[in-house]
Amino acid sequence: MPALRFLRISAPLNALLAAIGLVAVAALTTPDASGRTRLILEVVLAGIWVVYTLQLIGTLIMQRGKDVRDGKPALTIDVLAVLVPLAAFLLVGTRDQSLYCAVWLLKPLRDSTFFRLMGRVLSKEARNLIGVTSIFGIILFGAALAAYIIERDVQPDKFGSIPQAMWWAVVTLSTTGYGDEIPQSFAGRVLAGLVMMCGIGIFALWAGILATGFYEEVRRQDFVRNWQLVAAVPLFQRLGSAALVEVVRALRPRIVPAGTVLCRKGDTGDQMFFIVEGSVIVATPNPVELGAGSFFGEMALISGEPRSATVSAATEVSLLSLYSADFQMLSSSSPEIAEIIRKTALERRSTTPKA
Ligand code: CMP
Repeated sequence: MPALRFLRISAPLNALLAAIGLVAVAALTTPDASGRTRLILEVVLAGIWVVYTLQLIGTLIMQRGKDVRDGKPALTIDVLAVLVPLAAFLLVGTRDQSLYCAVWLLKPLRDSTFFRLMGRVLSKEARNLIGVTSIFGIILFGAALAAYIIERDVQPDKFGSIPQAMWWAVVTLSTTGYGDEIPQSFAGRVLAGLVMMCGIGIFALWAGILATGFYEEVRRQDFVRNWQLVAAVPLFQRLGSAALVEVVRALRPRIVPAGTVLCRKGDTGDQMFFIVEGSVIVATPNPVELGAGSFFGEMALISGEPRSATVSAATEVSLLSLYSADFQMLSSSSPEIAEIIRKTALERRSTTPKA
């Protein structure tokens, strides 16, 4: 339905509108925003609210008949983006009304896959993160306790209780160091140094856990995507699971638009390609079209000779490329497949003039 397409706002436009709205909210808090300027900014906010209301209607229409869980985060954000400013307009005094449009901060998240990825990393690494956070809590309390005992008589106004000393411990452990509370005694300064070093270690651990979690999750997603692509190539369906895992790791996916030259006659070639979707044209004297499931670029890879023909994408093509080192690996783990590729290369050579 064209109307629905109109109501569906693209992700970049969504983020742009949210950014404009938030700038307007910020500008309205400055003392210069009065009279006409204020009116213009409020009209901008009202305009964005109308667009978001249309988007909510669009989301609701598209959601009809689908499982509600499918689009739950997007729907929740769309509802909040409309209802929170509306409720503020109806219920709150004029002074703070526009501040509630800050809920649009959530809008860019509705289409983001990054936050889903982050959610998975956090849930997978929860045990390690909780472990490090517990150490953080223990050191924090221990540092506040020690600082209280050491400094309470020297600076009773700043370290007179554990909660007071806790602020110093947070600022020191996070290595922020505002400098508003400084231990005066020698023992207090030694303690501060130790706490800072612990802080650096803890933050490094947090960063390390998250970085490893992200790396593993991205690798897992790549593996799953490659697996699906490899499964679409009939040649690989003969592979046993161990060999398949090796091939999935070795193949690199690539999508190219129609017209792209994938290899040029006379060039050296260190990789061959498997077509997952789409088709390519091999510019031999009698041009040949190769479709999904076929492969090309194997002749130069096997013989080490220059490319025998120029190959270009006839349509948008989804490819998997295999480098020569990985072809050797494939030859040893699956000689049957390597043999098929070699035979095909020989047959093609007999019908193709040399480069
Ligand atoms: P290569 O020589 O490495 O690069 C060009 C590729 O075109 C070649 O490998 C083959 O994969 C492919 N090719 C060459 N001749 C033919 C043919 N007659 N039929 C199908 N494919 C061919």
